[in-house]
Amino acid sequence: MPTHVQVADLPQHVDEEVTLKGWLYNKRSSGKLHFLELRDGSGIANCVVYIKDVPAEVFARADKLAQESALIVHGKVRKHPKLDQYELGLTALEVVAEPLGEYPITPKEHGTAFLMDHRHLWLRSRRQHAILRVRAEIVRQIRDYFDGHGFTLVDAPIFTPAACEGTTSLFEVGYFGDKAYLTQSGQLYMEAAAMALGKAYCFGPTFRAEKSKTRRHLTEFWMVEPEVAFLDLEGNMDLAEDFLCWVVPRVLERRREELSLLERDLQKLENVKKPLPRIRYDEAIEILRRAGKPAQLGDDFGGDEETVISEQFDRPVIIHRYPAEIKAFYMKRDPADPRFAACMDVIAPEGFGEIIGGGQREDDLATLEASIAAHNLPRAAFEWYLDLRRYGSVPHAGFGLGIERTVGWICGLHHVRETIPFPRLMGKIEP
Ligand code: 4AD
Ligand code: MG
Repeated sequence: MPTHVQVADLPQHVDEEVTLKGWLYNKRSSGKLHFLELRDGSGIANCVVYIKDVPAEVFARADKLAQESALIVHGKVRKHPKLDQYELGLTALEVVAEPLGEYPITPKEHGTAFLMDHRHLWLRSRRQHAILRVRAEIVRQIRDYFDGHGFTLVDAPIFTPAACEGTTSLFEVGYFGDKAYLTQSGQLYMEAAAMALGKAYCFGPTFRAEKSKTRRHLTEFWMVEPEVAFLDLEGNMDLAEDFLCWVVPRVLERRREELSLLERDLQKLENVKKPLPRIRYDEAIEILRRAGKPAQLGDDFGGDEETVISEQFDRPVIIHRYPAEIKAFYMKRDPADPRFAACMDVIAPEGFGEIIGGGQREDDLATLEASIAAHNLPRAAFEWYLDLRRYGSVPHAGFGLGIERTVGWICGLHHVRETIPFPRLMGKIEP
């Protein structure tokens, strides 16, 4: 049997006999020729079955192959005389598995609900395949950034005893007769890790019982959360900027083909360069008012407001110093004006919404104790967290980047449901 190669590697095997293993994506026939499109995960190859190159039964078999038949094919790799295209001149064919009935996803248009119900099969489609590849590349570049910039990966727990991001979106689970919650964020644990390692990050799934059905909210999403000791708000904004301006160009360079297939306007992503604009929360309110939105000081921003603000800029914008009362209990207040928190959000361009939330953490024991009480949080569950302020407390800051929002922005997808292999939404837990 000739050597098994990947479709993506065909250019390195021109004029060689090779074996490909995959599934039939599509088929066309014209008298003496069958064109089998074989996908193997690395790409899709055109396999040409010419009536004179194969025994009559192979030619007849090729004619009857159904979509998604699992195949092993042998043949010679040919390069298109002019174009940068490669195909296989098929000489032999093995059918590994024939589909039991018609494949549900045909090349015709299907509705989103149907495709979501068949997500396990939908992943085989060209577009979904491209999105999975871009997502994997984003994750890889994120890891490379932190691993290469002095951060240590520290895994945060999934079962937690208390809320990090507000009690209204907690998923409660039974824990040996007691209650526990699925983590909303690894941040509090990363603060402990930063005091041990200086610079730490976690990367994992996080959970929020989001009761609103929006195109930006999942109930299970992945977040990367760096945390750094001896860092203030300004340093944290520098870190977020450096990080984004490092990751995006690399993803663009390595996944240009997939992004082009998704018809992403690459010019818009090429704008992601330093410096990223930084505006205060009050300036964002002004932008909204000028755009005719009835924004009041003290309002939090939802998807609509984020879209209006993002339209003023050609790259991600950092909004800092939101009112303290609309933000989480752990946030440090801005020493220059304690009505505001020393926090920041990064809003993606083109209406893709908030991709990063973070800021400087309260490092004073008494202030933090008062904040836990003011937010009616169970003090006992935070004793360990307060210890971090008892033993060598220092200024520290960090942020969380939502992977699905980032994938949505980079791929140019309207809804986050296509950014994760198996999305979990309110009213949707299958497949
Ligand atoms: O702004 P958030 O809530 O911040 C935190 O959780 C901090 N504790 C992070 C930190 O400082 N370590 O969430 C961070 C990001 C958001 O900007 C958004 O990208 C994403 O997580 N996110 C969601 N993505 C999808 N579905 C949801 N329901 C999301 N909620 C937040
Ligand atoms: Mg946020």
